[in-house]
Amino acid sequence: GVAPNGCPISADAAAFRPFDGPYQLDPAEALRRAREREPVFYAPDIGYWVVTRYEDVKAVFRDNNLFSPAIALEKMTPPTAEAQAILRKYNYNLQRTMVNEDEPQHMERRRLLLDDFLPERLARHEPMVRRLCRDYMDRFIDRGHADLVNDIFYEIPLTVALHFLGVPDEGAERLRQFAVAHTLNTWGRPPPEEQIEIAENVGRFWQTANEILDDMIANPDGEGWMYETVRQHFKHPDIVPESYMRSMMMAILAAAHETTSNATANAFWTLLTHRDAWEEICENPALIPSAVEECLRVAGSIIAWRRIATDDAELGGVKIPKGGKLLIVQASANRDAAHWENPDQVDIYRDNAVEHLTFGYGAHQCMGKNIGRMEMRVFLEEFTRRLPHMRLVPGQTFENLRNISFRGPARLLVEWDPAQNPERHDP
Ligand code: HEM
Repeated sequence: GVAPNGCPISADAAAFRPFDGPYQLDPAEALRRAREREPVFYAPDIGYWVVTRYEDVKAVFRDNNLFSPAIALEKMTPPTAEAQAILRKYNYNLQRTMVNEDEPQHMERRRLLLDDFLPERLARHEPMVRRLCRDYMDRFIDRGHADLVNDIFYEIPLTVALHFLGVPDEGAERLRQFAVAHTLNTWGRPPPEEQIEIAENVGRFWQTANEILDDMIANPDGEGWMYETVRQHFKHPDIVPESYMRSMMMAILAAAHETTSNATANAFWTLLTHRDAWEEICENPALIPSAVEECLRVAGSIIAWRRIATDDAELGGVKIPKGGKLLIVQASANRDAAHWENPDQVDIYRDNAVEHLTFGYGAHQCMGKNIGRMEMRVFLEEFTRRLPHMRLVPGQTFENLRNISFRGPARLLVEWDPAQNPERHDP
């Protein structure tokens, strides 16, 4: 075959299947040979240019005019006519939010809505995270085993996210179902028979998000980022239009917690399978912030993001025609030997771990990155203090939702001897 730039498609590129096999298991490993030999390649299976090296991924993030984020939330898999009809029934109409907005609208909007993310505002949420973490741990600390994803790491980031946004508690199970449907609808490849249920859930998600927003619009004095959004909409409807509010309400209800839940589970998985690192942070909790950063590098919860070329471009020596779609794989960039020393080693002393691209880079870099980091740090502080002897249950497999961007285990089973709990000896 021949790529849209006229160059031949290599055998590796033709065989690249991001919804199956090696990429689903370990995206950085799956792209190792590409990083070395063919760092930018056209993948006919998805119709995207895959970008694998650190410098190229960063360059794409950096130039959000030439490489527009407009397709960041586009469906990877075209919906069937039946699924489309279901979405229409719910008046589903996800448009530009923040993450897929172009300049100059994007930066004007981001500036207006930035204040709630400032460090001093975020510091207010930390006691709540710690209290929740302690309460949830109390429920299972004497039990000797837990599924960390389903017993704690899913619900706490969700609770924190709702609090941050100003959204009343909507029921964790329902929102979880919605978030899963949104992920599969946007970043998955669901077969036609699964698309129906996914579309129903995405439609209900849209409806629920709009009901929450309508309540806020009717009563806009509440606390939280989405209330602030509503107030800015009244003041600057040109910069914060209604369609933005409606789209963002739904998108952020998934983005603000799934990313953090997954990143936390990935970090615990990583540290518990690198026992020396786990023991070092138990001995010396001051190392936790750098351990968080190293985990975000080697096991980030967003492994790839998307851009579209607004003009003919060149990347890593490869010509990309105008309109070319790019899959920029942060997980691969984060393990590029051209940027990192011993890239495959988990090293909590690494002094440049913070240069990872898991939060993106440049104008669109994640606004919530410090919320995510804070939650991960608090979880590690509490667990290393109260359950330093906890171990991963051997033999479990990392089971991910089948999609190209979001990564985190469906469950994370751990066990310990409650008789050894430090607080029994030194309460
Ligand atoms: C954007 C990752 C947590 C809100 C992004 C982007 C990534 C990302 C990759 C796109 C960056 C780009 O295009 O350059 C993550 C990860 C998280 C996390 C890995 C957790 C570990 C959060 C949280 C919130 C949040 C907790 C909010 C409470 C946002 C917003 C944007 C964004 C509003 C859009 C920024 C813009 O386009 O200007 N995030 N995120 N994120 N994230 Fe996060």
